[in-house]
Amino acid sequence: MADRIRILSGMRPTGRFHLGNYLGAAKNWVELQNQYECFYFVADYHALTTEPDGHKAEDKVFDLTADLIAVGIDPKRSVLYLQSKVPEVAELTLLLSMVTPLSWVQRVPTFKEKAKLHPDNVNLGLFSYPILQGADILIVKGGGVPVGKDQLAHLELVREVARRFNRTYAPVFPEPRALLTETPLVKGTDGKQRMSKTVGNIVGVTDDPDVIRKQVMSMVTDVKRPRKTDPGHPRLCNVCAFYKFFFDDWEHYWDLCRKAQIGCFDKKKLLAERMIETFRPFREARAELTPALVNQILEEGSENAREVARQTMLEVRDAVGLPSYLDR
Ligand code: TRP
Repeated sequence: MADRIRILSGMRPTGRFHLGNYLGAAKNWVELQNQYECFYFVADYHALTTEPDGHKAEDKVFDLTADLIAVGIDPKRSVLYLQSKVPEVAELTLLLSMVTPLSWVQRVPTFKEKAKLHPDNVNLGLFSYPILQGADILIVKGGGVPVGKDQLAHLELVREVARRFNRTYAPVFPEPRALLTETPLVKGTDGKQRMSKTVGNIVGVTDDPDVIRKQVMSMVTDVKRPRKTDPGHPRLCNVCAFYKFFFDDWEHYWDLCRKAQIGCFDKKKLLAERMIETFRPFREARAELTPALVNQILEEGSENAREVARQTMLEVRDAVGLPSYLDR
């Protein structure tokens, strides 16, 4: 099916897989597999921009890959791989950087935000992060990139870089489009900030039921409802926001809350049990995955991705005017 656009997306291995990763990204990745040829990868090069010691990411690479498989990324239908096992990505990053004006990268807002979070480690790799991201996408000629809103600036830059490369040399790359995930922002247990490992406000997906219970019970609810007997404001309550994802009859619960017929504590208890039940198949699938099996999947996926990457690099080298690889 050569006319299908190719989907590509990646996730950094930075800690436990959580509801934000699932509802905001992976759930959509799983659905896209039904319609498209998909390339999904664990972005371990990207992780080095904030944690230079790759050894620290080893377990996290396993965890993230296993979680992605457990929630439904199917290595038989999609190419699931490890970014650093396709080192052609690094070569393409270098070549793309030659046609990228510095001012374009300086405009990207995420750099400033990340630099603020890690003031003691503001490195050049962090600055050129969107170019590496561009190489990820362009090396497999990805046409659609499922991402959240926070990544739109990167995608816009990647499109401009692809256009510029094509104009400077030869039309090698398609211009990738962002496929916005429909899920609105998933907020963390604090009810304020976006769910993130760095902030520490996460709710797990494949974790033990007790871990999930504890995380859900720690959620901040409706701050305008001091007593259980006061009417609630579901629209202002993050727990109620999650009901929309986990209960078909969420409106019924919102109503009970408005009428003070259910308290925040009970709402959290119900939510936790529903999440645990919903994620049971994921948890069970996850438990079956051994490091050996996960490694084998990553090896095979990476070899497939690499084959595509090698082909692209032959075209790229040709376009730029570099000698072809000697072993070809
Ligand atoms: N930058 C993305 C994030 O922080 C992860 C990522 C890396 C990515 N390379 C990509 C996403 C390529 C889409 C396409 O979430």
